[in-house]
Amino acid sequence: MLLDRLGRPLRDLRVSVTDRCNLRCTYCMPAEVFGPDYAFLPRSELLSFEEIERLSRAFVALGVRKLRLTGGEPLLRRDLPDLVARLVRIGGVEDVALTTNGLLLPRLAADLKTAGLRRVTVSLDSLDPEVFGRMNGLGIHPERVLDGIEAALKAGLGVKVNTVVQRGVNDAGLRELWLALREKAVVRFIEFMDVGNHNGWNLESVVPSREVLARLSEDGTGGELRPVNPNYRGEVASRHVDGQGHEVGLISSVTAPFCGDCSRARLSAVGVLYTCLFADEGTDLRTPLRAGASDADLRDLISGVWRERRDRYSEERGEVTRARKVEMSHIGG
Ligand code: GTP
Ligand code: 5AD
Ligand code: SF4
Ligand code: SF4
Repeated sequence: MLLDRLGRPLRDLRVSVTDRCNLRCTYCMPAEVFGPDYAFLPRSELLSFEEIERLSRAFVALGVRKLRLTGGEPLLRRDLPDLVARLVRIGGVEDVALTTNGLLLPRLAADLKTAGLRRVTVSLDSLDPEVFGRMNGLGIHPERVLDGIEAALKAGLGVKVNTVVQRGVNDAGLRELWLALREKAVVRFIEFMDVGNHNGWNLESVVPSREVLARLSEDGTGGELRPVNPNYRGEVASRHVDGQGHEVGLISSVTAPFCGDCSRARLSAVGVLYTCLFADEGTDLRTPLRAGASDADLRDLISGVWRERRDRYSEERGEVTRARKVEMSHIGG
């Protein structure tokens, strides 16, 4: 089996299909940086669907079982359901997922389902219009995202919701959000991370998952929420259920890093392979691909990178600071 230098297998590939987004979340693509003049990637730079499929097949041959489409906002990529249809057909793929801000789901959910997608993960940080409008940088109303969630459910897609928690920004509304959504979706609260180079991260703005859990319960102790086992080894979220069996996930990348089990590779929209969310550099797969590399060449290149991998940034945070990291909008979280 292909293992990295810390003994971790390659199981999960996250593919970014565009660097563009129709939101400007302050923690990801702040409007001051990603303004009207920002130079997004031209279309010719992006991997085509054929190229994404070809690379995905190489990753699957090396052990990948789960594919996740991300962005930027993946639903901005034209004909995305066609890509889903290509990926679900790959033998050996057990799960294809999609991370989206939900705005285009009313238009696309049914086509995604028809293409073979089974579930989506929708980002939603607050139900308070003022708070959410500020966090998404464009004043977009949470109702728009809720409409997307409803469209996904109506199409028969499973839904998870990702909520990034920032102290003093959206932490007052966490219980409200969970109560409103828990019947329909698994909500996961994510500790705010120092990804990219522009999000003004500091430790004080992180609300530790332990505190989130306490705030979710009626009595403020978290006592009525009990932990349940992970669905699979290396699951990022730690799961809890309330008395009625509603599930909530806590993603504690700052206070309880999970690098030890990290089996995720990331492919940017231009075909650069990153072995960590916090990488400062990656390996270009597009150039050899376009120069006519064989499937075996591609597998050798990827396995060579994975074998040398020793990333564990979240465990080292504090010991190392990286001058420049890859942007979240290039590798999609
Ligand atoms: P499931 O397949 O539904 O279990 O989802 P997942 O665990 O792949 O979660 P998802 O892709 O929705 O990730 C949720 C969030 O967790 C991301 O948006 C990131 O903020 C964070 N996250 C995911 N993977 C990593 C990782 O490898 N390292 C770190 N530090 N954070 C991660
Ligand atoms: N910290 C934690 N999560 C983040 N995401 C984006 N930026 C950050 C950050 N700085 C999450 C979003 C979305 C996914 C793409 O990544 O909430 O769910
Ligand atoms: Fe867009 Fe998602 Fe980044 Fe928000 S977090 S700016 S929705 S890619
Ligand atoms: Fe994996 Fe890097 Fe995240 Fe650690 S910080 S879990 S190595 S992606």
